[in-house]
Amino acid sequence: MNRVIVNAAQGDARISRHIYGHFSEHLGRCIYGGFWEGEDSPIPNVRGIRKDVVAALKKIKIPNLRWPGGCFADEYHWQDGIGPRSERPKMINTHWGGVTEDNSFGTHEFLDLCEQLETEPYICGNVGSGTVQELSQWVEYCNFDGVSPMADLRRKNGRDKPWDVKFWGIGNESWGCGGDMTPEFYADNYRRYAVYVRKYGNNAPYKIACGPNDSNYNWTKVLMEKTRGKHGPLMDGLSLHYYTVPGEWARKGSALEFGEAEWLITMQKAYVMDELVRKHGAIMDEYDPLRKVALIIDEWGTWFDVEPGTNPGFLYQQNSLRDALVAGIHFNIFNNYAERVGMANIAQTINVLQSVILTEGRKMVLTPTYHVFDMYQVHHDALRLPVHVESETCPLGFDSIPLVTASASEDENRRIHVSLTNIDPKNERQLCLELRGVSCKILSGKIVTSENMTDHNTFDNSEKVTMKDFSGASSDGNGRIKVTLPPKSVVTLELA
Ligand code: AHR
Repeated sequence: MNRVIVNAAQGDARISRHIYGHFSEHLGRCIYGGFWEGEDSPIPNVRGIRKDVVAALKKIKIPNLRWPGGCFADEYHWQDGIGPRSERPKMINTHWGGVTEDNSFGTHEFLDLCEQLETEPYICGNVGSGTVQELSQWVEYCNFDGVSPMADLRRKNGRDKPWDVKFWGIGNESWGCGGDMTPEFYADNYRRYAVYVRKYGNNAPYKIACGPNDSNYNWTKVLMEKTRGKHGPLMDGLSLHYYTVPGEWARKGSALEFGEAEWLITMQKAYVMDELVRKHGAIMDEYDPLRKVALIIDEWGTWFDVEPGTNPGFLYQQNSLRDALVAGIHFNIFNNYAERVGMANIAQTINVLQSVILTEGRKMVLTPTYHVFDMYQVHHDALRLPVHVESETCPLGFDSIPLVTASASEDENRRIHVSLTNIDPKNERQLCLELRGVSCKILSGKIVTSENMTDHNTFDNSEKVTMKDFSGASSDGNGRIKVTLPPKSVVTLELA
């Protein structure tokens, strides 16, 4: 029997809605053929941006969107992406397929997209191959309301009012594709670049330093140590990147052709996020006990082999029920560390890696991961309630992994939401849910599951895996709730 205790009277931290953020890079068909079709496209669009995509993302209230990369960010020169589109210079997207980037989607188009989505932009600056001046001018271009060379240039390009972009990343993966730097060298660079990411008006930029790759704890230590100023940390956030890769980098495994062994290994790899957040968080606690610096997991998700016959540089993969479970596991982890995790961004929104949307010409399909984002909306900005989970385990090699994960929160209407995952590929699992400090009744439940592990949505069968009503929870009459969790399911209960 599995047991989840929710300490309902001990809500202690806000779950930032930014945990449910997104990442979209100039990579494959994420921007071009994903968000952007251009004004002359027969596909319905508003100023070149697909209407169906915007409507779908608005429904799950995506809180922020990180752009333009990724590795692309450290080769991107933003001034190439402004002004009349026909005059913008072309470049080669060296990281992603060596294709020509014509810069038709640039700063104005991105910020228009964010306005249409009603989401906060998160711009990642170029530290690897760009200059301090370039980044500083980008901030001025976006955020300055007065008379200045960059603000005037923005007006000349058709935008009078500044966009007030708050989130600024100072480089991406500076330990790798973003410049191959040592942590000491990057820390010095961070300090220099960050000085010139200026505050304009009341808009103090939220500065995000490039953090570690998965378990590179030394990177976190050096960054925390070397980016302290006289009055405390010089950054607002430190990023962390970790991908769930079932195999080796050379043979990651197929997104759709897998069996129980690969299913379980994928879950085991997804659980690693818990250890990473805990251990990086512990190092951050040493230097920043008041938790002023947020851990920003601005790239996470599954990474499989590309779909057969597609460009290997485009990272296009299908998305199955397995991805839905990975999403639920990650969200439970992020919710449970809400005191430190300030933002997370799935990689990537459309047509790349663990997407929530796939497109093909005018067709669009929502993936199982989309439906988990939809289900977890109830946790946006809610009060995190501490949970204690006792889970049955499943043997895996010399190890064993838990079958059940959970997180809980209370919203502004005092409704409690408990989210649960059961990774057991075959069996339903019984769970006893205990809410301490309140007495509650069950209002409703939602579930994402399907018959087979590999079930997924296609353009011809788009409703195979969706969110449905769940009725497998009942009160046991003694203040506890009995839940029968179907195999391979993500569930959220609403209680009041
Ligand atoms: O998301 C794909 C790539 O993964 C990003 O460009 C890079 O930051 C990471 O290595």
